[in-house]
Parts: sequence; structure tokens; C-alpha cells
Amino acid sequence: MKTALLVSDIDGTLLGDAAALRRCNAWLEARRDRIAIAYASGRTRPSILQSVAADGLLEPDAVICNVGTEIYAPPEGDALHGWRDSISRAWSAQEVRKALANYPGLEAQPDDAQSDLKVSYFLHDAAPEQIEDIRSRVVDAGIHGQIVYSSGRDLDVLPAGADKGAAAGYLALHWNIPFAHVIVAGDSGNDLALFGEGFCGIIVANAQPELKSHQGATVFHASAECAGGVLEGLEHWWSTIERAAAPAGRSN
Ligand code: GLC
Ligand code: MG
Repeated sequence: MKTALLVSDIDGTLLGDAAALRRCNAWLEARRDRIAIAYASGRTRPSILQSVAADGLLEPDAVICNVGTEIYAPPEGDALHGWRDSISRAWSAQEVRKALANYPGLEAQPDDAQSDLKVSYFLHDAAPEQIEDIRSRVVDAGIHGQIVYSSGRDLDVLPAGADKGAAAGYLALHWNIPFAHVIVAGDSGNDLALFGEGFCGIIVANAQPELKSHQGATVFHASAECAGGVLEGLEHWWSTIERAAAPAGRSN
């Protein structure tokens, strides 16, 4: 029975060191009967599935796409409609585009990065005040939205309450997995929300400054980069989770 869940970002977290990914995969495969795997990415589902096929990622049990605005469990199945319905209130992608039209420095990302629940721009090296100003424009337009800024480049406008962390929580509830048995891993700003739900967190050594500076009782800062850091974090958290999940059970 799967009593734990790994929710991991892909780019810069699992990908980036192929040899480390093989080691991390081997660790996960040895516990696959107990741990479910979900990838949480800013990418679209087709892009994630293509990466699973091409980049040596294990087949996941679920994918959280477009920065948490879509959840597919199983990955090839229908979206979890309950999630979609709960986040799409008081939100309009069209209104967001209108509110931010001609905002200095904002450049729309390509069409395939846009959806009705995610409006994405490039904005290089934005200062916190600039992000705040953009947030005010969105809120002043009556949109129930939030801004997620990553890697000094990517600015996503999402419905309030729709991010990777909330989506991971929804998935854990959907599968009846306690939040204390959810391990999350990331490397940049769009992963920050994963660390606000009380999950067991892993921040890889190559993380962007906006995530690397994040501290907390349930945050493990790995000393290795990419999948090597994820593996280090899994080993760090696993014995506690395993003990709580199966008091009479095994311990590998
Ligand atoms: C991925 C998405 C992009 C988004 C970024 C940060 O790169 O393709 O649209 O802005 O993640 O969330
Ligand atoms: Mg990343």
C-alpha cells in the first residue's frame, strides 16, 4: 500500500545530473510499493510526459502541471475536476492579460505556455517592488489571483490558491496520504508553495536564491545538486515516515 508521496519538481531538481537521477530512481524503485510519485512542474502535461519518456524519469502516479493549476492522476487520465472547479472562481485569464497589457518589461511567454488558468510572462531580474506592483494591478482589477516569480525570469499569474503546494495537498487528500508523509523537492520560486504546507521539504543545493534562502523546521537543505540532493533528502526523511506509516513493519 502506498502510504507516502513524493512530489518533485523536474527541471533543475530531478533533471541536471543523469547519473544521480539513476541512483535516485533505484532508491525509489526499491520502495515503489510504499511511495507514490508525482511530478509538479511549470510545464504542460505533454511536455512532462515527453520528458518522462526521453530523460530517464520514472513513470509517475500523477502529474501536477502548469504550476499547480492542473492535476492528472493517473498522468494519462482525466484532470481532477474537483481541483479545477475549486481554483477557477473569480478568475479570468483574459482579464489578467488586459490588466497587464503594456506593463513595462513584461513579455508574454509562447502560446503553449498559456492556459485558461495560467498567464505567463518573461520579466528579467525584477525587484520585489516591481512584483508587488504587478500583484496590485491584478488585485485592483478585481482578479482573485497570485503572482509566482521564478529564476529571475518567469512570471506566472495564477488563480489565488492554485499553486504547486495546494495541488500537492489536494492530491494527498485524494489519495488519503497524511501531509506528514508527503516529501516535496524543488529548486526555484514556483516550488516555494510546496514548502508552506508542512510537508517534508527538500531544497537541492543548486536552488535559485529565492528558494535557497527559505528556512523552516520541515526543510532539508541538501548538499548535493539535482537528483543527488533529492536522494539525500529522501534518505533524510524516509526513516521517520516509514516508522510512522508502519510501526510493526520493515525499515529499508
Ligand atoms: C516552466 C513553464 C513556464 C513557467 C515556468 C515557471 O518553465 O514552461 O511557463 O513560467 O515554468 O513557473
Ligand atoms: Mg525547477
